[in-house]
Amino acid sequence: MSKILVSGGTGYIGSHTVVELQNAGFEVAIIDSLANSQIDVIDHIEQITGKRPEFYQFDLKERHDTRAVLKELDNIDAVIHFAAYKSVGESVANPFKYYRNNLQSLMNMIDGMNRNHVRHMVLSSSCTVYGQPDVLPVTEQSPVKPADSPYGSTKQISEQIIQDAIRSGLDMNAIALRYFNPIGAHESAKIGELPVGEPNNLVPYITQSVAGVRGQLKVFGNDYNTPDGTPIRDYIHVVDLAKAHVVAIKRLLEGKNKANYEVFNLGTGTGNSVLEVIKTFESATGQNVNYAVTDRRAGDIEKVWADTTLANTELGWKAEKSLADALRSAWNWEKNYRNI
Ligand code: UD1
Repeated sequence: MSKILVSGGTGYIGSHTVVELQNAGFEVAIIDSLANSQIDVIDHIEQITGKRPEFYQFDLKERHDTRAVLKELDNIDAVIHFAAYKSVGESVANPFKYYRNNLQSLMNMIDGMNRNHVRHMVLSSSCTVYGQPDVLPVTEQSPVKPADSPYGSTKQISEQIIQDAIRSGLDMNAIALRYFNPIGAHESAKIGELPVGEPNNLVPYITQSVAGVRGQLKVFGNDYNTPDGTPIRDYIHVVDLAKAHVVAIKRLLEGKNKANYEVFNLGTGTGNSVLEVIKTFESATGQNVNYAVTDRRAGDIEKVWADTTLANTELGWKAEKSLADALRSAWNWEKNYRNI
C-alpha cells in the first residue's frame, strides 16, 4: 500500500482529498500547522472512512522540523502539497506573510523530500495564474498573466520553484493542478469549508448568510460584460476536485506522466454568474438568499472558465457533480455544523 504525505490535510480541499485517498486504499499522513483549520477534522475523516490518518502538527516554515518528520516517516511514496494561505485580500495587506509562508513551506517540503528520496509531488495551484484571460475557455497553454495579488504571485512562483528544482537536477516528478472555484462539501456533511472569520468567498458567504451567521450577501457589481452583468466563474465540487488528486498521484506512482512537470486545469468547463449561483442555491435548497448589488470588489476579474480537455483525455478525469449538487452539499454542511 502506498503512503501519501498530505500537507494542509486538515484544510478544506486537503481534508476532502485525504478521504478520497483513503477510500482508494492509500495510507495517509497529514502535516498541518492548524493555522487555518481544526484538529477535529481528523476525527471526522476517521468517521467517514473508518481509518485515522497519521497527523503531525507543525509549521512547514521550520526547515529542520520538516526534514525531521520526513525522515521519521521514512516510507512516503508521494506528497500532495496543499499547505498555503489563500486569502487574496489579506495577501495584499500583508504580502510578506504570504511570500514567507507559501514559498518557504514549499521549498522546505522539496528539500525534505529530496533528502529522503521522495520523488513525486502534486501541487495545489490556481486558475488565478491566468488573470483575466483574453480567450475563453482557458487551456493550460493560455498565458500566465502578471498576478493581481501576492497570493496569486505565490501560486505562480510555486509552480516556478518546482520547475527550477527539476531543472537544477533534482530527481523529481510533479503535477501542478490549477483549480478553478472549489465549492461544496462531502456528502456526509462531516467535513466542509470553514473559513476563519468573515468569508471572502461566495459560497461560504451565502451559506453563512442563510444560516443567520452573517448579514445580507453583497453581490460585488452587476455592470460586467456578461449576460446578467455579474462575474462568471467555473465552480467545481470539492469532491470531484479531490478525486482528481487521487488520479494525479496514481499517474505519478505508475510512471504514466509524460514529463517531469505537468500542469492540468481542474474545472467543470462551464461558467456560471454570481446571480446564477444564487438562483441555483435557492432552487436546490428551498432557501432564500438575501442579497443586494454593491460596488465591484477590487481585483475581481470578469469571467473565467476552464477548458478541461487535457484533464479529460490525459488523466481520464471529469467533474461529475452539478452546481446544484455542490450548493446543496454546502448547505447541508453548514446546517450540520450549526445544528440547524
Ligand atoms: C479567489 C481567487 C482564487 C482563489 C480563491 C480562494 C482571484 C481572481 N481568484 O477566487 O485564485 O483561489 O479566491 O480564496 O483572485 N462574490 C460576491 N460576494 C461575495 C463574495 C464573492 O459577489 O461576498 C463574487 C465575486 O465578485 C466573484 C465570485 O463571487 O465574482 C466568486 O468569488 P470568490 O468565491 O471570492 O472566488 P474568486 O474571487 O473567483
